[in-house]
Amino acid sequence: MADNKVSNNGDYEIIDHSYDVVVVGAGGAGLRATLGLAAAGLKTACVTKVFPTRSHTVAAQGGMAASLGNMGEDHWSWHMYDTVKGSDWLGDQDAIEYLCREAPAAVLELEHYGLPFSRTEEGRIYQRPFGGMTTRFGEGTAHRTCCAADRTGHAMLHTLYQQSLKHKAEFFIEYFALDLLMEEGECRGLLAWDLMTGKLHRFAAQRVILATGGYGRVYFSCTSAHTCTGDGGGMVLRAGLPLQDMEFVQFHPTGIYGAGCLITEGSRGEGGYLTNSEGERFMERYAPHAKDLASRDVVSRAMTIEMREGRGIGPKKDHLELHLEHLGADVLHERLPGISETARIFAGVDVTREPIPVLPTVHYCMGGIPTNRHGEAVTLNEDDPDSVVPGLMAVGEAACVSVHGGNRLGSNSLIDLVVFGRAAAERCAKTLTAGKTRALDEKTGEAELARFDHFRHADGAEPTAKIRDRMQRTMQHDAAVFRDKDTLAEGDKNIGEVAALLDDVSVSDRSLIWNSDLAETLELANMLPQAVVTMKCAANRPESRGAHARDDFPDRDDIHWMKHTLAWYEKFDEVRIDYRPVHNYTLSDEIEPFPPKKRVY
Ligand code: FUM
Repeated sequence: MADNKVSNNGDYEIIDHSYDVVVVGAGGAGLRATLGLAAAGLKTACVTKVFPTRSHTVAAQGGMAASLGNMGEDHWSWHMYDTVKGSDWLGDQDAIEYLCREAPAAVLELEHYGLPFSRTEEGRIYQRPFGGMTTRFGEGTAHRTCCAADRTGHAMLHTLYQQSLKHKAEFFIEYFALDLLMEEGECRGLLAWDLMTGKLHRFAAQRVILATGGYGRVYFSCTSAHTCTGDGGGMVLRAGLPLQDMEFVQFHPTGIYGAGCLITEGSRGEGGYLTNSEGERFMERYAPHAKDLASRDVVSRAMTIEMREGRGIGPKKDHLELHLEHLGADVLHERLPGISETARIFAGVDVTREPIPVLPTVHYCMGGIPTNRHGEAVTLNEDDPDSVVPGLMAVGEAACVSVHGGNRLGSNSLIDLVVFGRAAAERCAKTLTAGKTRALDEKTGEAELARFDHFRHADGAEPTAKIRDRMQRTMQHDAAVFRDKDTLAEGDKNIGEVAALLDDVSVSDRSLIWNSDLAETLELANMLPQAVVTMKCAANRPESRGAHARDDFPDRDDIHWMKHTLAWYEKFDEVRIDYRPVHNYTLSDEIEPFPPKKRVY
């Protein structure tokens, strides 16, 4: 850092850096990109809010889908069909084809990097069934999800971090990314705040890759870490760029009642099942074929209906039960040790003897920064719906490639991280020249610094925690598993009022070192616009597709609504909505796109 320019701007010491590429975020996607960039000889900085191995990917349990066929027949085209169907025909089929074709190689690469996968008797990577994953275009159950017991994300992070260090990537750990540095529509770098020293850092780069994860924390009950505040999406909206398909928010069927912690779908893959207050295995009624392994949107809706109709469990009839007792202590110990511990700590349950109380809990944001399959951010420009935003890329849950469309299949997230993290690195290696980063204009970053200073000195009447609590309750109540015109109109009004409170926020700590009051306020300022956009886009889409289930429009409307929503945010009452077409084409002649069909479970 010694040769970096240091300047003073008012109260702030600013340090200038120059890199070929800056990656923001050190979860699975960020680390896979970082590793690939560094290995390709590009000077790479990874800027991350938390220590890499504490990123939210650490919480991913069940595994990653790839048609290795280690435990039965499989083919990438079957995986592709399941993913298109799971997306409810909102996914881009070129990107889905790429994901499913590349998945086996990406998994084997991780194996070679040292990821400690669970094994079959023959020593192959163990693969478990997961919801919506089938063989022969829906005929049988696929064993497709490669796992390291139920700690797959944890194993992935350690493997990728070690490999990134080996290739000499540089890490800026516990740095809060404040804003993209844009010059004439091009992303030229990043402004970040070092939480430990209080100094600010201006990174110049030829590309910034946002790998900042989802914004699940806009909801009250979610499986996401407290750090999942959609910082990348917040920065993108402030840069005047759109987010895509924000109305699609996934509820995972089995969050622990009261705590929200994830109980992996792998537990149902291993044979677990759900019951209602009558002890009935109700999924047999809703999805006679797939039963408890129907896709998540289907199971979450079935659970919600059971509770609505009075068959929930407990005095408030507000949860259901997941049974694993019958699997036996040996299987639980070998395949599901992590969730056995989680259930003991957070639900006081011994899974070898008792069921776990569960309910649908927000788990994944299908929407995000629109990108092409190389990870390049795109926007709608005059007649070009795939216009690349110069200098900006996004990968992982922060991005909307879109391989998940209206609903992501379980275990398609971890594979998305590594396939598209790698694709982004490859794109940079192909299109950039090392050492050619231009210096930033002296004035670049001044407006972003002024914004930071504004929040640091905010002396309004509303504490951050109070506004955040209102936002989370509003989203939980009004943008839930089932939505309708009235709840969404009410939600739109309420979330607008909450967003307006940010103008009156109070920050009581003015320091620059480990100022968590300020950091949480900046996170809130990233989340609120995304909460508003989610609500408005949900109200704007009069159909049911994937995770977006409208009571008042129960059918999917492919004629009018098989299209991606784009939303630009100016203020809580100034959101502009437009559309991009879904890519209903494939990459090669080897496979035809899958035409939409009615869903049968
Ligand atoms: O249930 C799970 O283990 C979660 C996996 C996923 O969201 O992909």
